[in-house]
Amino acid sequence: MEKIQLCVKYAEAAIGRDAIDALRPEAEKALRTLVNGDGAGNDFLGWLRLPADTTPELVADINATAEALRRDCDTVVCIGIGGSYLGAKAVLEALGSQFGKADGPEVLFAGQNIGEDYLYELQQYLRGRRFGIIVISKSGTTTEPAIAFRLLKEQLEAQAGREAAAKLIVAITDARRGALRTLATSEGYKTFVIEDNVGGRFSVLTPVGLLPIAVAGHDIQALLDGAKAMQEATLDGSDSQAMLYAMTRNALYRAGKKIEILVNYSPKLHYMGEWWKQLYGESEGKDHRGIFPAAVDNSTDLHSMGQWIQDGERTIFETVISVDKQSHRVEIPTDADNLDGLNYLAGKRVDEVNKMAELGTRIAHVDGGVPNMRIIIPSLDAASLGQLIYFFEVACGMSGYMLGVNPFNQPGVEDYKRNMFALLEKPGYEEATKAIKERI
Ligand code: PA5
Repeated sequence: MEKIQLCVKYAEAAIGRDAIDALRPEAEKALRTLVNGDGAGNDFLGWLRLPADTTPELVADINATAEALRRDCDTVVCIGIGGSYLGAKAVLEALGSQFGKADGPEVLFAGQNIGEDYLYELQQYLRGRRFGIIVISKSGTTTEPAIAFRLLKEQLEAQAGREAAAKLIVAITDARRGALRTLATSEGYKTFVIEDNVGGRFSVLTPVGLLPIAVAGHDIQALLDGAKAMQEATLDGSDSQAMLYAMTRNALYRAGKKIEILVNYSPKLHYMGEWWKQLYGESEGKDHRGIFPAAVDNSTDLHSMGQWIQDGERTIFETVISVDKQSHRVEIPTDADNLDGLNYLAGKRVDEVNKMAELGTRIAHVDGGVPNMRIIIPSLDAASLGQLIYFFEVACGMSGYMLGVNPFNQPGVEDYKRNMFALLEKPGYEEATKAIKERI
């Protein structure tokens, strides 16, 4: 398996290698804390050894369930939000085609917003379709997916009949608790468990991510194998790239770079940026600390955000995900008239132009005071993505401990929910309703 590589040359150029190396003892301590499981949030470390510990039986069960949905459905709607959505979406976008129908059912997403028009349009689209539902909620009580599931379950039962609908719904939730577990038991849905010790944003390599990915026809064993290779190399210390990433981003933060922008040069990685933002934002943004995670899609965003990044406030650094080999070859043709002046590129691959855009941008940015790192992934295949996912997860655990926060809780997520429930006059929130109404 070709390995992913991290290059920190253009971060060193900005703050010096010594500033990065000075953090090695802290990073090693953070890794030991993760491995020994004796730090804050240590009851949420199930993800740490997940790639190696996932049994062939679970993989077979996921693949068999996916196969049944592929056979019986033309469309599968995955319902979930946050960690119950972004990992699957990121991998599906990276591995699938951007255009045209996939090999197998179309995989759509719902419950990741409360957009009324979104849900209306989805319901219209599903009319007359043979659709199935994968409903994912660890808590089983999250409002956004609960609303979407109530609507789509009703529609599926109306279209297919209640008994048939129950065979087309798969629930992924807590082993014992929550409304979704209760409903799944009473309706006889096929279920998978999200273990107590795996937080939502670290759950992509559980059935939460693996089932939608398998439904789309991708090789989940290859994804797990990639993650396992990164797990083993990181935890036994033979590969310290995740550690170097944690060290470098913390060194940059301490040098005043408060915002990290994850940059891709492939539109297929847009949702990898969204997944990464949740992973790092929810893990590190606490106690009034934390690197703010942002993301751009280049070269598209060089034409919108490029000015700010090159020349705005100097509080940012970048981490570029660079895909070494494209899966397909497209060459720029010669044109007899050459009105666009592009003949100097004739015969070159589009990717060569893209790579020069990337290199030119990185040099311009470091010259303009924006240090950058580069993660090179061999190609957009399952094994490379598995490595990348685990690389980011384990680096996030280390980095959070280096920042001095508990990387595995998310107390701040509850505040908007409390206000929303109070405003919606949810039973049990009477006092909060009274208090919030006085403020508006
Ligand atoms: O990382 C997290 O814990 C959150 O983003 C959750 O995944 C998200 O809020 C969805 O929660 P649940 O799966 O309980 O519906």
